[in-house]
Amino acid sequence: MGEAQSALFPNYARYPFTFVKGEGSRLWDENGKEYLDLMCGLAVTNLGHAPKRVTERLKEQADTLWHTSNLFHIPGQEKLAELLVANSCADAVFFCNSGAEANEAAIKIARRYFSKVLEQPERYEIITFDMSFHGRTLATLTATGQEKVKEGFAPLPAGFVYAPYNDAAAVEKLISPRTCAVMLELVQGEGGVNPAEPGFVKTVAELCERHGLLLILDEIQTGVGRTGKMFAYEHYGIEPDLFTLAKGLGSGMPIGAMLGKEKLRGAFIAGSHGTTFGGNYLSTAAGVATMETMLEEDVPAKAAAMSDYIFSELKTKLAGNPLVGEIRGLGMLIGIGLTVPNTELIKSIHEQGVLVVPAGPNVIRLAPSLLISKEEIDRGLETICQTLAKAAAAAV
Ligand SMILES: Cc1ncc(COP(=O)(O)O)c(C=O)c1O
Repeated sequence: MGEAQSALFPNYARYPFTFVKGEGSRLWDENGKEYLDLMCGLAVTNLGHAPKRVTERLKEQADTLWHTSNLFHIPGQEKLAELLVANSCADAVFFCNSGAEANEAAIKIARRYFSKVLEQPERYEIITFDMSFHGRTLATLTATGQEKVKEGFAPLPAGFVYAPYNDAAAVEKLISPRTCAVMLELVQGEGGVNPAEPGFVKTVAELCERHGLLLILDEIQTGVGRTGKMFAYEHYGIEPDLFTLAKGLGSGMPIGAMLGKEKLRGAFIAGSHGTTFGGNYLSTAAGVATMETMLEEDVPAKAAAMSDYIFSELKTKLAGNPLVGEIRGLGMLIGIGLTVPNTELIKSIHEQGVLVVPAGPNVIRLAPSLLISKEEIDRGLETICQTLAKAAAAAV
């Protein structure tokens, strides 16, 4: 049914598929046709569809207790927070339901830290980056450095300024007596799979240190093993003051998290911030089972090895193809830059039963399960590379 006739708001341009079953890297549509999933519901099902341990824990939890509210202690929340703190640079965690909410919480705690803990309320401005994506709430879409997500939503909250990505000198120029934080994606996912350069990240971290600014990393897309480390900041030899997670954390159960260093703990007091559903029994059961699987099976290391293989295969198979520009990314977040628009090519790849997703108008984004098999990835890469080869041949 077209959305114009359905009871839904028409705010998504949906692909013409309806999936009814998923297992590992495979999805089946309502006609029983099988698809190879190289996008993972937008970098969410990092362990594949219906991962055993997560499915079993969710079933157990569903039989026991779903929700009580954050007025009470929630053991799954404590357990997931402990796992995250033990395996990251953070000391405290706040749970919510989505990436946008995690970033909203980071923006709020940054402002409150300056206003209430440091007693410098005049420092509220956050430096973000051109082509970034931080979410769809009013504050996070304002933080986002892309005009298209802001159209029609004015007036937007004050307090955000934008630097070109990978330009530390521009960041330095934007620092003023109003600045409280820099908010950064280490790989811009939605903005085109653009990895941050190591020198840029190091300099930004030093600038934050020197000027007493908070470094906030948006790891919504890069976190939980996606880049071949548990968190992308581990690649860069720096530690953020705050970072945010969502997508991969619950294997598809909605959950988001804001994680921060000890000095930020007192910036939220009872009543400062909250959510009815955030971190409930079901979502944290999924989160605990996901993190335990990641840790016990060393999934990030497996992702790093598979990523090396994918990059090397893509570089060999796409060498000399005039439609292909830069192949870039980090770990299992990979962009094939094109010299032409991506829409028709992605449509053709989909029709051959392989699911990939755009990042901007000229990039084919791959975000496969971190546990995808070599046979599956070979099949997917063959389809993509053949499609691009045929399109190049047709273009001459
Ligand atoms: C880097 C980044 N931040 C924030 C978000 C927003 O997350 P959500 O859609 O869960 O609100 C996304 C979603 O794509 C993202 O990629």
